[in-house]
Amino acid sequence: MNSILSRIAVVTTGGDCPGLNAAIRAVVRTSIHHGLEIKGIVHGYDGLISGDLIDLKNESVSNIIQRGGTILKTSRSDRFKTDEGMKLAAEQVKSNNIDALVVIGGDGSFRGAEKFSSIHGINVMCIPKTIDNDIFGTDQSIGFDTAVNTVVQAVDKIRDTAASHDRLFFVEVMGRDSGMIALTSGIAVGAEAILIPETDTRVEQLVKILERGWQRKKTSMIVIVAEGDDAGGAYAIAEEVKKRFTGFDTRVSILGHMQRGGSPTSADRVLASRLGFAVIEGLVEGRKNEMVGVINNQIHFTPLSEVVNNRKLIDRSLVTIAHMLSQ
Ligand code: F6P
Repeated sequence: MNSILSRIAVVTTGGDCPGLNAAIRAVVRTSIHHGLEIKGIVHGYDGLISGDLIDLKNESVSNIIQRGGTILKTSRSDRFKTDEGMKLAAEQVKSNNIDALVVIGGDGSFRGAEKFSSIHGINVMCIPKTIDNDIFGTDQSIGFDTAVNTVVQAVDKIRDTAASHDRLFFVEVMGRDSGMIALTSGIAVGAEAILIPETDTRVEQLVKILERGWQRKKTSMIVIVAEGDDAGGAYAIAEEVKKRFTGFDTRVSILGHMQRGGSPTSADRVLASRLGFAVIEGLVEGRKNEMVGVINNQIHFTPLSEVVNNRKLIDRSLVTIAHMLSQ
């Protein structure tokens, strides 16, 4: 066991997602198992700057594994991006005798974490969470599976209406820079087309796909649009398509923040439990400034500098599959 480790703190940062509570629970209980004292930081990095710390015990995390959101609350902190904010946060870490910080966050939070550790010499270990699943160093981030299942349930319902009215629906899902949710859910709902930021969207090509469906007498059509698609959002693309394709009555549905809430799926609960457990085991073994992930179903640690300097790419074979099967 690492002898200098006696008190650690855990924080959730950035956008919330389902599975955060399951990760907090795993971090707390594994820490206590190893005889470590564990503090929770409330309201993300903002709470770290202001010293908003609470004690966490085994009973503090009872009955939360199934709950969405985060019992520690979260924030997208602008202050932590400043030198002054980071300095204040480092002072809090030192004055509270915290030996290591566990950050359950996304890409942006990890950039902050990496800078924090290199400038202030604080050991930061990270757990990846984001419904976008765009973090390098893990096949899956906490929250993605639940978000995809939320989209699938919603689009299955929309399909009923689309089929009853012979309609074309453009359904916009989250993903400012990432098409992971759109691509995965689009395959799962049998979407006629999936528009994502990682591929070039051409309206003429989309119209051809829709006309092909019309000719083969499809009674409904669904186009999944990632919010960050290069051709614009679902409303803008639908307007362009309507000028060239009049086969179906067209509607737009924006799923929005419903994708971020709700009870986590069993897959997200298990993933969060595995990552929360592994990050503390890693700390106890003496690991520093790494992110824990799962690659090919095995726990894998990646240096934070590598995580933030690399981009996770989509699996292009999924684009081919989606296109092939939508005919
Ligand atoms: O990063 C997760 C995410 O849900 C993105 O898919 C989305 O673009 C963004 O957060 C929305 O953030 P906010 O809740 O701050 O508007």
